[in-house]
Amino acid sequence: MPEAIEYERIGDIAVLAANNPPVNALGVDVRRGLLAGIERAEAEGARAVLIYGKGRTYFAGADIREFGKPPQDPWLPELCARIEASPLLVVSSIHGTALGGGLEVALATHYRVALPSARVGLPEVHLGILPGAGGTQRLPRVAGTEAALDMITTGRHVRADEALVLGVIDEVADGDPHEVGLNYTRELLESGASRRPVSEMPAPEQVNFDAVYDEVLRKGRGQISPATAVRAVQAACESESFDAGMKRERELFMDLMASDQRKGLIHAFFAERAVGKLPELQGVEPRMLHQIGVIGGGTMGAGIATAALLSGLPVVLLEMSPEAAHAAKGRIEANLSGAVKRGKLSQARYAEIMGSDLKLATGYGALSNVDLVIEAVFEDMDIKKQVFAKLDEICKPGAVLASNTSYLDINEIAAATKRPEDVIGLHFFSPAHVMKLLEVVVADKTAPNVVATGFALGHRLKKVTVRAGVCDGFIGNRILSTYRTCADHMILDGASPFQIDKALTDFGFAMGPFAVADLAGLDIGWAVRKRKRAEGLDPRARDSSYADKLCEAGHFGQKTGKGYYVYEAGKRGGVPNPEVLPLIEAERAEQGISPREFSDEEIVRRYMAAMVNEAAKVVGEGIARRPLDVDVTLLYGYGFPRYRGGPLKWADLQGLPGLLDDIRKWAAEDAYFWQPAPLLEQLVAEGRTFDDLNKEAS
Ligand code: 3HC
Ligand code: NAI
Repeated sequence: MPEAIEYERIGDIAVLAANNPPVNALGVDVRRGLLAGIERAEAEGARAVLIYGKGRTYFAGADIREFGKPPQDPWLPELCARIEASPLLVVSSIHGTALGGGLEVALATHYRVALPSARVGLPEVHLGILPGAGGTQRLPRVAGTEAALDMITTGRHVRADEALVLGVIDEVADGDPHEVGLNYTRELLESGASRRPVSEMPAPEQVNFDAVYDEVLRKGRGQISPATAVRAVQAACESESFDAGMKRERELFMDLMASDQRKGLIHAFFAERAVGKLPELQGVEPRMLHQIGVIGGGTMGAGIATAALLSGLPVVLLEMSPEAAHAAKGRIEANLSGAVKRGKLSQARYAEIMGSDLKLATGYGALSNVDLVIEAVFEDMDIKKQVFAKLDEICKPGAVLASNTSYLDINEIAAATKRPEDVIGLHFFSPAHVMKLLEVVVADKTAPNVVATGFALGHRLKKVTVRAGVCDGFIGNRILSTYRTCADHMILDGASPFQIDKALTDFGFAMGPFAVADLAGLDIGWAVRKRKRAEGLDPRARDSSYADKLCEAGHFGQKTGKGYYVYEAGKRGGVPNPEVLPLIEAERAEQGISPREFSDEEIVRRYMAAMVNEAAKVVGEGIARRPLDVDVTLLYGYGFPRYRGGPLKWADLQGLPGLLDDIRKWAAEDAYFWQPAPLLEQLVAEGRTFDDLNKEAS
């Protein structure tokens, strides 16, 4: 096995090259290699040590896979102290990303040169921890307290030019990191530069830390790591010595390391990278995509077209009439102008897209040469079947035929064609050019290379792409329907939509379910309820119609200015709609229900148990391949708090036996709704967790 740190002696300079692909994470072998390299350089009488990374990057941080396992010497903080204390001149040459422990090693070296393309940052808060190898103590000493607080609490990646201005690096130079580093180190030696340990620099300036702490805590919506990091930076300013500050950093770091939030966030980190790794995709080549078609340029079609155009894919957009096509063009223009305003798209590229990449059409002939079509017409099976029958006639052989349906059966849609192997669901989320999630819905006859094409498209559009099977609502909307139903039951029994929304935003959701319904449009849920009633509800299912009454009165949520909340023009949030509670009370009276009190805790427990139970059914039935696929879907499509890791990670952390006990207890009052998922019962019986299933599948 190659050495994780390669040692090379060039004149007076000992060069330590990290060789731990893919990102030179600071695992135990790298740490040992660095320590040995420093010691050898000193023993051999070198004058300087240059540290750089081979491959794509300098160190991208501590090795996250080691977290939660017994620590192995040398610890990173001790290694950093040892590097800094070396009597030799120690220099870092940074390319790629110097993140977390990577930047901490760089800050422990005496000088830092970086390539113009390099980025530096301390993103630990996104993993539920804080910089634990001196980052909270050294960064404020070089960049000042305010800049350090900004970098550490946001975890943002800072470009080399900004890092230079902030004093985080000393020089920017273009070229190969080995050459750039050697040149810079030689210059330093020639100019007689002396060692420059950051720990010996004066303590950084004070700021109002309590105010910063409160602000960061509020912004974090319950996430504790950024606020805790503020206290560590405070220690850099207030401790009597550098070592005392380091001690405080370590205490706070260890507290966070032991927290459930750290476990949730690290689960999220690995889960989002695992979703695309499916055995069925191994070695399967996706079909080529040069141009795509989109049918329907409403909310979703326009968003999907925007996302494709932004990724450089030309789009043919088909609408029902010239007027509808014109309206669709307006939506895409508005989306792209937004991208120009935010600096994500140049004016020249905007003009190019609108001038030649986007083509509007009203006849199917325009789709004869596209490589993939995404249908986003009204949510109506008959219309969708007609569209797919036409696509079957027109599209060239090998074209992928996709539907963006929210709930409908992709097998039935595929059966409207003579090429079901080319048919797939590509379920985007609104707004499609912003939301990161894409569900690739695989039907019974979908060809493996069509699945691979769905993933390749997701990758190109920078989406987090999850595989789902066919059922009513696939992974996300099926689970959503269940926890929404649970919320409706609680409303019938005595809770209010406003209390439920508040309890769930306090839990960490970006929005409560009723505010979300207002945003998506109450007509969507109404259409689903009508369809399900038409299909025939199970007589044991509880139904409610108060929400239908809002829709019947023309209140569809934000787009009509009124739903569960009333929205004033120009304001984002709404205030509770006073018409809602009387509608609910009337319905309770009609159904003979005497309302009872719900605590916020009970609301969260029931809502989450309903979510977990349905998610366990989704995994048990193979709709989601692994629990982590559900977690990523809820994190990226449904505002689930990332620091809780996703519903099934949350369930593991709560303890599955307790959740199953609650579900069984509630089954006594509503045995139809609270049917325990067989997979949940099995895991409890075997003393296993959802994470065990993830591990078995990897
Ligand atoms: N430890 C272990 N594995 C890591 C890792 C790390 N710090 N960073 C990335 N990886 C792995 C990924 O899991 C992935 O593995 P896979 O190929 O098996 O899925 C592989 O490296 C490549 O990663 P990406 O797919 O994410 O590659 P990108 O090029 O898209 O991104 C990156 C590269 C920007 C470095 C991104 O991986 C990243 O943000 N990594 C995390 C950086 C980070 O958070 N560092 C701080 C760690 S905590 C710390 O240092 C604590 C210290 O203060 C004590
Ligand atoms: P929308 O009503 O905003 O847009 C539908 C568009 O399709 C309209 O512009 C209409 O003119 C056009 N259209 C209808 N029939 C057509 C036909 N035969 N040929 C060409 N164009 C036709 O609807 P929206 O919200 O964009 O939804 C579209 C699809 O996406 C639905 O299946 C919906 O379930 C799904 N979806 C919706 C989401 C949302 O949040 N709105 C999220 C994810 C999926």
